[in-house]
Amino acid sequence: MSHASQLTLDGEVVVFAPGETLLDVAKRQGREIPALCHDPRLAPVGACRSCLVELDGSRRLVPSCATRAEPGMVVASEGERLTRHRRSLFALYLADHPHDRAAAERRGPDELLAWAERYDAPRDWGHLEPLRTGRPDDRNPYVDFAASACILCGRCTRYCDEVEGVSAITLTARGAYTTVSTVDGISLLDTSCELCGGCIDTCPTGAMAAKEPLLRGAAPESELTKVRTTCGYCGVGCQLDLNVDRNAHGGRGRVVKVTNPEPGTTTNDGNLCVKGRFASDFIDHPDRLTTPLVRRADGELREASWEEALAATARGLRGVADAHGADALGFVSSSRCTVEENYLVQKLARAVFHTNNVHQCAAT
Ligand code: SF4
Ligand code: SF4
Ligand code: FES
Repeated sequence: MSHASQLTLDGEVVVFAPGETLLDVAKRQGREIPALCHDPRLAPVGACRSCLVELDGSRRLVPSCATRAEPGMVVASEGERLTRHRRSLFALYLADHPHDRAAAERRGPDELLAWAERYDAPRDWGHLEPLRTGRPDDRNPYVDFAASACILCGRCTRYCDEVEGVSAITLTARGAYTTVSTVDGISLLDTSCELCGGCIDTCPTGAMAAKEPLLRGAAPESELTKVRTTCGYCGVGCQLDLNVDRNAHGGRGRVVKVTNPEPGTTTNDGNLCVKGRFASDFIDHPDRLTTPLVRRADGELREASWEEALAATARGLRGVADAHGADALGFVSSSRCTVEENYLVQKLARAVFHTNNVHQCAAT
């Protein structure tokens, strides 16, 4: 890389790519800079001021999330002035923000409290009752909003607009009354909201949280184990994290909720649809099939072994083909199967039963 793409960070010469911000460069170099309103999927707004850094030649501290790296810049990401700034900033945020980290973690990770602890931000600057209000009558089953924990960073509203493209929520009201709301404060169910849950995952304070685990009194974030897996609902193959309470169900474990992996780490870039994000309750549902069932002569279903069930299926298929011809059969497979499994289904249809009536919704 040429000299034109170098700058000095904390006394060290580092390279950068065109278009990178100072925050991008600093993170790549392993610096830990608070960045409460930053999400790499969103256009920077420089709203929270937590990511400020020192830049030679600039009297003021500059927002690293919104400042493009330029050749020859001399930048400091830490130091006494920045520590003073961050401590004061977090103390101001804490003035009308809940302080109890254990309680906050029932909703989700609270980056503000974590950074405030790290910078030993004073908690005795007086406490103001937040004037922000939520929408207590929102009957949507998935997204809960605790206005008192909101720092108005706008990540949720920008995500809803820039990534999800539906603008169901926005910053409303003025001054200390500013809050996140829908048009006229109506339920998300009555808006363009697609219940993707992206506003929850991008929220840095847990103000936006998954509603169902809260109502159920599920274990806090710190007691959950994240298990990375592939969503089984369609053929896209999105990556998601199952949050498992290993102590639930007498040690058998329970999936408490689904969260998105960090943006940039997976093919779906930390985005999910409503099914992948919220429809995991089938895992423990009492109606879930856990063993094959075969219908008896009297029409009732009874439990059976796999051998019995497969034999009954083969008899049924063969009976239809013999009586009405092979094209009386149709094989519908699932995008939840692997490519190999779908290959075997079409092989069964074509090679064994001699029909091309075979389909699978992802058409792989
Ligand atoms: S769930 Fe998705 S669509 Fe609905 S408000 Fe949140 S980000 Fe917007
Ligand atoms: S709800 Fe969360 S993401 Fe939205 S503005 Fe408040 S703190 Fe930011
Ligand atoms: S992350 Fe840069 S101002 Fe908020």
